[in-house]
Amino acid sequence: MIILKTPDEIEVMAQASRVVAETLQVLQKAVRPGITTDELDCLAEQEIRSRGARPAFKGYRNYPKTLCASVNEQVVHGIPSKRVLKDGDIIGLDLGAIVGGFYGDSAITVAVGPMTGRNARLIQVTEEAMYLGIKQAVVGHRLSDISYAIQQHVESLGYSVVTEFVGHGIGRQLHEEPQVPNYGKPGQGPRLQAGMVLAIEPMVNMGGSAVKVLEDRWTAVTVDGSLSAHFEHTIAIKPSGPPNILSQL
Ligand code: MF3
Ligand code: CO
Repeated sequence: MIILKTPDEIEVMAQASRVVAETLQVLQKAVRPGITTDELDCLAEQEIRSRGARPAFKGYRNYPKTLCASVNEQVVHGIPSKRVLKDGDIIGLDLGAIVGGFYGDSAITVAVGPMTGRNARLIQVTEEAMYLGIKQAVVGHRLSDISYAIQQHVESLGYSVVTEFVGHGIGRQLHEEPQVPNYGKPGQGPRLQAGMVLAIEPMVNMGGSAVKVLEDRWTAVTVDGSLSAHFEHTIAIKPSGPPNILSQL
């Protein structure tokens, strides 16, 4: 069942999403060669708590940290560690926060040090795909119009979308119905309605789309070792016009 949110509930979700967005901005500035992903995790938890919110991922299905930090061929759910970032790496930073019982969820991918054109293009195409998906999140469209827009953009530029992980409804739970795949035919699935709140989150690989999960049971990596990027926004569908992007500052 898809749970529609009231305007008051969406306001609370906007607060949770704002905490996530502000924290991501702090993390983005902190990313540099020499910093460890554990240090980024620690900073993330401080920033979330100092804003009166709670980390959403810590303890979720026994996930041990506040942040998901996915480096290079890691697609999503990289666990912060003593790993030291170096020039030329790219890193996906995925965060959730809880305010007043409601979740916000957002992710960005950034470069460590100066970026090659090749990496910049992967990151740009992934972010563009997310925004093209978001643009489809209007009353009257169907859910898979979002999916289709994402897949089209990514594949037309020679990259591949990950199919094992999907976006999701979000509210009093981190993951609610519906699932929001990053692939599919247009015009399918539920009709989009005002009050639906969705986390739209394409994961894009430079090589093939296949992914596998490492021994730690969390870290997803590309099977071919190619680089992967991830962007995510929490958005609320409005009675008319484009959606409210809750996790955008
Ligand atoms: N943004 C991811 C998601 O929506 C993060 C979940 S990580 C977990 O699924 F640790 F909380 F599982
Ligand atoms: Co999510």
